[in-house]
Amino acid sequence: MAKITFTTHEGAVHQAEIVAGKSLMQIATDHAIPGIDGDCGGECACGTCHVILDAKDFSKMGSPKADEEQMLSMTPERQTTSRLACQIKVSTEMDGMNVHLPEFQM
Ligand code: FES
Repeated sequence: MAKITFTTHEGAVHQAEIVAGKSLMQIATDHAIPGIDGDCGGECACGTCHVILDAKDFSKMGSPKADEEQMLSMTPERQTTSRLACQIKVSTEMDGMNVHLPEFQM
């Protein structure tokens, strides 16, 4: 079973099963992962699904589109490998990926 690991700012680790074709935000909220709100339902309009990827994973995802980049630019805890989880479609190739959560969402 392919899984993604979410690590909170406090170091708590949660695992979620990958369902190919869903967004990373949907996977997180389906599994009640704390720290991802997804308030806009995945419309790239709230920024409450901010995640921080490992550099090796970030480089595989492709660049954020303009609307995601705009939301990220307003994210106080943005890091160089930040993404919005609603804009990442998951696949079983992401098995074992570790996703870090910021201390706060916007
Ligand atoms: S869920 Fe709102 S920007 Fe991702």
